[in-house]
Amino acid sequence: MIEYNERAFALHGDGFTCLLRINEYGLPELLHFGDPVTVEDAEALRFLPGLGWGGSVLLKEGDPASCADTMPLVWSGCGRGDYRESPLELDGVPTDFRYKNHAITDGIVPMEGTLPQAKGDCQTLRITLTQKNLELDLYFSVFGGVLTRRTVLRNTGTASVTITKIMSAMIDIHGQYRMTTFNGGWIREMGRHDDMVGESRIVNESVTGASSNRHDPGFLLSDPDATEESGRVYGFNLIYSGNHYGSAQRSIQGFTRILQGISPSNFRWELAPGATFETPEAVMAYSTEGFGGLSHKMHRFVNECIVPEHWQYRARPVLFNDWEGCMFDFDHKKLVGLAKQAKALGCELFVLDDGWFKGRKNDFAGLGDYAVDRKKLPHGLEGLSKKIRTMGLEFGLWFEPESVNPDSDLYRKHPDWALTDGFDPLLGRHQLLLDLTLPAVRDYIVENVSRIIDRCGITYVKWDMNRHSIALGRKAHDYILGLYEVLGRIFHPRPRVLLENCSSGGNRFDLGMLTFGPQVWCSDNTDPIDRLTIQGNRSYLYPQSTFGAHVSAAPHAQTLRTTPLCTRGNVSFFGCLGYELDLDHLLKIERNEIIDQIAFYKKYRKTFQFGSFYRLKNGWQVSRKEYHIAGVFRTLTQPAPPYETLRLRGLKREQHYYYCTRGQRLRIGQFGSLVKHVLPVDLNPNGAVLRTADRRITLPDGTQQGHATGAALQAGLPLIPNFRGTGYDTNQRTLTDYGSEIYIIEEDWDSGKIR
Ligand code: DGJ
Repeated sequence: MIEYNERAFALHGDGFTCLLRINEYGLPELLHFGDPVTVEDAEALRFLPGLGWGGSVLLKEGDPASCADTMPLVWSGCGRGDYRESPLELDGVPTDFRYKNHAITDGIVPMEGTLPQAKGDCQTLRITLTQKNLELDLYFSVFGGVLTRRTVLRNTGTASVTITKIMSAMIDIHGQYRMTTFNGGWIREMGRHDDMVGESRIVNESVTGASSNRHDPGFLLSDPDATEESGRVYGFNLIYSGNHYGSAQRSIQGFTRILQGISPSNFRWELAPGATFETPEAVMAYSTEGFGGLSHKMHRFVNECIVPEHWQYRARPVLFNDWEGCMFDFDHKKLVGLAKQAKALGCELFVLDDGWFKGRKNDFAGLGDYAVDRKKLPHGLEGLSKKIRTMGLEFGLWFEPESVNPDSDLYRKHPDWALTDGFDPLLGRHQLLLDLTLPAVRDYIVENVSRIIDRCGITYVKWDMNRHSIALGRKAHDYILGLYEVLGRIFHPRPRVLLENCSSGGNRFDLGMLTFGPQVWCSDNTDPIDRLTIQGNRSYLYPQSTFGAHVSAAPHAQTLRTTPLCTRGNVSFFGCLGYELDLDHLLKIERNEIIDQIAFYKKYRKTFQFGSFYRLKNGWQVSRKEYHIAGVFRTLTQPAPPYETLRLRGLKREQHYYYCTRGQRLRIGQFGSLVKHVLPVDLNPNGAVLRTADRRITLPDGTQQGHATGAALQAGLPLIPNFRGTGYDTNQRTLTDYGSEIYIIEEDWDSGKIR
């Protein structure tokens, strides 16, 4: 709800108010962004300048309050007294925008171009500022617990204007904050970094042309002592897939200025007379319930206002993807064999990844072409898809439409369609990018991808992009606009096709891509121990329904780490579950375990995908309606480990709950030479008998079950002891390195509430 009173605006969302006023100098001043207040508080919440600050440049001579440099603002000029970082740069020309008018509307104000936008119930405030020959619209939309911002610049003059920097949002919040950013690279996405915001600027920026795996566009600002459950936390994100910029810097007045928008690095946009420039939409949220509370707000926003409507809270299929198992080495027979097995395990969707088109025997050739490799697939994609669909599986296909290999028919025919920068072409994964700013290129992609989807009954598309560090220079933003046009033309008319974006894993995991497809391949690293970081840290800003999370082989292809199959499953459950390994190589005991995993996941799928997510000290929890599921994850084993508790969250204190472990089985081999001590015969642990037994026989791990109140479970349920070197027993757990366990907690309807 948005209130207006005497030049003040109160934007009320769930648990927050953003209070603004147009001050006497026509500047949009921020009075407060935090706990709910009313529009009547506008006067009380002003910072009064007293006799002003020494060394100030004044907007009005003799008036100490007129120093723009010391005001908390939501937009500021450049070179006119405010020497903090400016949200707008016009190639060195000063800017000084003042209030013109405003409007409050129900719903969003749709953008004119192809940039994606949040959708849903909201109210929008537009404040228009003006300076000579230019108008600037600041949009604020309140969606439940989230505030979005964007900026539109209009050239009302007769001469062209050069924009070298234009932010989506600027805000000056009072206080001392810690900034959390998420950084990394290929197979190491989302490392968490915390820095205190001081008077030197902290910048979170990507300049690779993509939102990037180096720096996620989202970041957090929190009270220095905020925890998962308490303290004030602000969250920021951007609905954009290209170069992004986020910064925070404190002034001596104690205001922290935060900017969000397109990276100004190499950005340059000529704004012709009469033309407008729209920025992407920025997202802000606020919570007093720590990082956990902030995540819940962001998750809800993504699930309800970002992902395509058809997929909002719609269960995602358990998929099998052939990539890690086969790579380029497959044919029709192999795929049909895998599909049969995937179906028997319980999978619902079969995805054929890279390598299905002519010339694609490795990653050196073929990208850009769409003719099917008839040697591998003599019945074509249609034949394969039909066969798979008759088995009762859906059929999904991988595409990498933005790229071209120099060794391809497309490149030979249209070398000018590849993006160049005036130097010798530099290849990334042996490929170049197509120039999506050219209409002919966009048409080519739209026609080919749409035709194949429609002809082959495809219900899932994996859209990959592996040419990174694109030196797009000034074309960077145009490229992204072209990409959004292409995605819109293909997927808007086909809302039921499940689009999973991917860019060497998580190189384009952002809110922009999520508006077209509801999930993103989190990382090429499926090692569950690394996924604890990758998925765990993504959960600060994105819900688990957006995570593609697959079980793959061990030792793992990227880390060579060997982890138990149960942990690979237990971690992948907290996302959109898939399997990505050669099923021909599974042991029977592994097959049975996977059948159990998939059946279990399907039973609680909506809880895993859409439940409220909690980061616990020793694992994760999801809660939906009367169901709560916790995963306890071990990294390295401790000898004689101390007692461990499971401290659940979000339960009803007085409710009676039944809890139990999911129940897992242990490989005999994990006991090594201990096995010979419990057998009457002396067997060599490396000998054929025990090796065979390890492949066939499993032992039950200790289980735990009981009843307790929500209050007790939140206080911390003591878990049965873990292996202490004193023997195997089903009254204790045997979690070794990388072990894990799932706990199911359900409301106990029989007992009802404790009387
Ligand atoms: C990179 C992706 O991240 C992988 O999952 C796979 O699709 C390969 N590309 C295929 O080339």
